[in-house]
Amino acid sequence: MVTASWNRRHVLSLADFTPAEYDTVLHTAASFREVLSRRTKKVPALQGQVVTNMFFESSTRTRSSFELAAKRLSADILNFAPGTSSLSKGETILDTAKTYLAMGTDMMVIRHREAGVPQAIAQEMDRLHTNVSVLNAGDGLHEHPSQALLDLFTLCTLLDADQPRLSLLSGKKIAIVGDILHSRVARSNIWSLTASGAEVHLAGPPTLLPKLFADFVAPPLPPHPADHVFAAPQPIQSIPRSLFIHWSLPPALENADMVMTLRLQKERMTNHLLPSLREYHQQFGITHDRLRHCQPHVKVLHPGPVNRGVEISSELMDDPNFSLISQQVTSGVAVRMALLYLMGGGKS
Ligand code: CP
Repeated sequence: MVTASWNRRHVLSLADFTPAEYDTVLHTAASFREVLSRRTKKVPALQGQVVTNMFFESSTRTRSSFELAAKRLSADILNFAPGTSSLSKGETILDTAKTYLAMGTDMMVIRHREAGVPQAIAQEMDRLHTNVSVLNAGDGLHEHPSQALLDLFTLCTLLDADQPRLSLLSGKKIAIVGDILHSRVARSNIWSLTASGAEVHLAGPPTLLPKLFADFVAPPLPPHPADHVFAAPQPIQSIPRSLFIHWSLPPALENADMVMTLRLQKERMTNHLLPSLREYHQQFGITHDRLRHCQPHVKVLHPGPVNRGVEISSELMDDPNFSLISQQVTSGVAVRMALLYLMGGGKS
């Protein structure tokens, strides 16, 4: 298995991912997809290594697929459950992480409702001169790198199942629709899809996609050379040509090759950002009828969980001619195997 383009200990953001790193993940995930099609769906790649799932916020897909990915790689897996943990006795998050470090954890997969928690734990692991790898499984409004990588894998395998690679998306028109303000999935996808050379069209109501959306994208991290893309406040013209913002749906959908619709994150809405769910669906809900304006081969993605009948119609969600939602979930296992494998040293 080729792992030449991988020197990364942590995966915290896609902001500084290189094309070679994207291709390494895609290529490695394709190998693991083949493993997962075998009768015995297990390899000994991470035998003896400990992967700890630390989900401080709820999850179905990400948590389960990281657990399955670790098991398929023969790692030992620990699942931290905040509700039954010593957090309730006042233990801090960093002390929780250090407790798992002391048990011999090699990789920590971390989700938290606050942006920056995986970064803080990674910094602490580095400060302590450990070899522990930290993987961001979704932090607040910041990023969800493994979701964007599985979305990328799903799209690239659609175009070339045997050799998925970043350049396959070059020139494609990809619409990302909905609650972009609250979406860490959108932020990570913007990095990967613009890196591919695709045209990325963001569409949503002004309250969920403000002109200075850039403000909310800037991660709580040191400036990165690519930050000029999102540095705020900036006039809209400074956003690169490959990223477009629309406050209505039609221009985003016109001739789109792929449409990614996002969950309306009602739990994160502290203000009244929408008149009603019904009106939102009328304006921004993705339906069969709306797809008439896209390319005939258009496919629809959604990271899940879905509000049926709000951001996407129930009929479209269940239509295998258009919906890639199940494939995204399936891709998640192979892509997360690839990430754990690469972070674990990539030794076959
Ligand atoms: N897409 C995603 O992160 O789903 P979960 O919240 O179920 O993990």
